Amino acid sequence: MDQNNGQNRGQWNSKLGFVLAASGSAVGLGNIWRFPFMAGANGGGAFVLVYFILLVIIGFTLMLGELSIGRATQLSPIGAYRKLKAKYAWIGALGVVAGFLILSFYSVIGGWVIRYLVKGISGDFNVADGSVLGDLFVNFITNPLEPLVYHGIFMVLTLLIVIGGVSKGIERYSKILMPMLFVMMVLLMFRSLTLPGAMEGVKFLLVPDFSKINAQVVLAALGQVFFSLSLGMGTMITYGSYLRKDENLISSSIEIPLIDTAIAFIAGLAILPAVFAFGFDPEGGPGLLFITLPAVFSQMPLGSIFAILFFLLVLFAALTSSISLLEVVVSYTVDEWKWSRKLSTIVLAGAIFLLGIPSSLGQGVWSHIRLFGRDILDNVDFLASNILLPFGGMMMCIFIGWVWGVDKALNEVTNGGKISFPLKTFWVVMIKYVAPLAIFIVFVQATGILDLILGN
Ligand code: PHE
Repeated sequence: MDQNNGQNRGQWNSKLGFVLAASGSAVGLGNIWRFPFMAGANGGGAFVLVYFILLVIIGFTLMLGELSIGRATQLSPIGAYRKLKAKYAWIGALGVVAGFLILSFYSVIGGWVIRYLVKGISGDFNVADGSVLGDLFVNFITNPLEPLVYHGIFMVLTLLIVIGGVSKGIERYSKILMPMLFVMMVLLMFRSLTLPGAMEGVKFLLVPDFSKINAQVVLAALGQVFFSLSLGMGTMITYGSYLRKDENLISSSIEIPLIDTAIAFIAGLAILPAVFAFGFDPEGGPGLLFITLPAVFSQMPLGSIFAILFFLLVLFAALTSSISLLEVVVSYTVDEWKWSRKLSTIVLAGAIFLLGIPSSLGQGVWSHIRLFGRDILDNVDFLASNILLPFGGMMMCIFIGWVWGVDKALNEVTNGGKISFPLKTFWVVMIKYVAPLAIFIVFVQATGILDLILGN
């Protein structure tokens, strides 16, 4: 039922529907595509260790923070901040910008997944020599036109679901497909772990080499926490805004990060052991998933069926995330500009598609365009995930801790004192001090600002 919302807003039908949809937003390419290659490129166990520490400090704290702002205001991010304190509406606007940027390259990778689904169907992974799979991937992404077509298909799929509306569109899909994805990932993990030479990869992922921890690794892990949990841009404000007043925000804020991390970790254990077993490069970057897993499928009985099913499930996981990205941008125009949902969705999806084109071309014809040693896609990803999301998260902590006030936030969190909150002190200390300071320190360290000022 709608409470104080306009006609264009809806509400979740059940607690399970909400947790699954929010987990659907969190679980996506961030877990299956990004986590393994980020871990691979940033020292394996060192990255994973920092990731876990930041998950506890920041993941839970910000998840609860965002959900409480969303449910307290029943508005999308900008409106939510404005309602609580008008001067801070820009934090919400920053999130809309981040969502725009993220979806632009997310959809490019989503397109790669669709292409690989099609490749699976046509049996392209039935190869004797795994090294061919590297060429298969490079030939595809360097082609100027083909990846753009798939990027377009992914955007259209996202658009169609978002036009369908909240509970109708999102909830229905998450319920069946999330558990299926989980089972699939576990199966793949077992196949990967039993490959000869797999233990090397397990060690790489689980045993931290402390000498590899530096400011860049910490920044990468920080960005990954935000990206993977859909935090820092108001996704969870938007999702929380559709949540009923009697739901338990605290348990949701524990369940969602747990589900998300389990899937990322299982994906890591499905991909990195195989990377070592097949002699691929763990620092292979964004192509890691697309090169490694087809090699695993080629070593499985019924591998081609697994390949099809896998890319299908990853596609659905990517879509339940991309719809949440588009949702943030769309709910802004619906709430603030009073556009219809349909018009907002079509116009914005079109704009995001155009914005994604350079990221796609940067893999091939524009691969000479590099900045800070990164191609276009990696730069957009870096700017959005490692800078804008953590910055948005830091500002949200300051906002809750010092502007809106923890008392009001706690009132929302505990449903007006109706539910107990044993982690109350932990959460307050984290949101007021530890989380914003930690993010600030990582920024200062990673950009070397202090060194510049001190003249080192
Ligand atoms: N968390 C999603 C994933 O892991 C991506 C995402 C980021 C979605 C930010 C919404 C907001 O794939």
